[in-house]
Amino acid sequence: MGRLSTPDLEHMYSDILKGLSVHFDSLLITDILETARRFPRLQLGYALNRNQMTSKTWLVDSLYQTSQGRLGRVCVLGGWYGVLGALLLHDHRFDIERIESVDIDPSCEEVALSLNRSHVDDGRFVFRFADMHEIDYVPADYDLIVNTSCEHLGDLPAWYAKVPEGTLLVMQSNNYFGIEGHVNCVNSLAEFKAQVPLAEELFAGELALKKYTRYMVIGRR
Ligand SMILES: C[S@@+](CC[C@H](N)C(=O)[O-])C[C@H]1O[C@@H](n2cnc3c(N)ncnc32)[C@H](O)[C@@H]1O
Repeated sequence: MGRLSTPDLEHMYSDILKGLSVHFDSLLITDILETARRFPRLQLGYALNRNQMTSKTWLVDSLYQTSQGRLGRVCVLGGWYGVLGALLLHDHRFDIERIESVDIDPSCEEVALSLNRSHVDDGRFVFRFADMHEIDYVPADYDLIVNTSCEHLGDLPAWYAKVPEGTLLVMQSNNYFGIEGHVNCVNSLAEFKAQVPLAEELFAGELALKKYTRYMVIGRR
């Protein structure tokens, strides 16, 4: 058999995703398929690739174990295309009032809103265009702040200093040096922990992926 043309290939992948969405009864897969159709960007593939999904699934499961699922008002910083927000909102183990997905790149907004279409209409997913260094976290009064983009911050301690004491935090970094925008990679979990010293540590671990290791801490500021 010869190779498929690009339109036929797209048709085939679309059929597979539609079938999976029926089999798993998953609005998440439906939203991903529709978003891929509307915003065919390489970056969207990166945001949903195996390493990213492994890292996010690790986060979701570890967060469930440490919180028993009661999350309330959640802020996801550097939320990119809203993948983590979607995974949390579609996970029925969690009790979530609302997720605010924050990003400094305005081009993320339309993609994140599409990927979270199931939860935009009921107001449980919102996108906020902002620099996380500029947010006033005291009046925002989040129950949980997630920052999986610590490797992207030139001055991570300055951001950390703005987070109110006692706030529940989930943070990830990695040792994936040499990638554009990765200005704050670390060499070890100990180095990461020193950048964001928690008052109460609930979880700390590392996940070896094919090209790099991801580090995560969960606890109270
Ligand atoms: C490549 S993405 C996500 C990387 C992260 N390791 C993850 O998997 O979630 C990093 C995101 O952080 C955003 N970002 C970087 N600096 C930021 C800042 N100061 N405030 C808000 N968003 C920021 C970027 O625009 C980008 O969408």
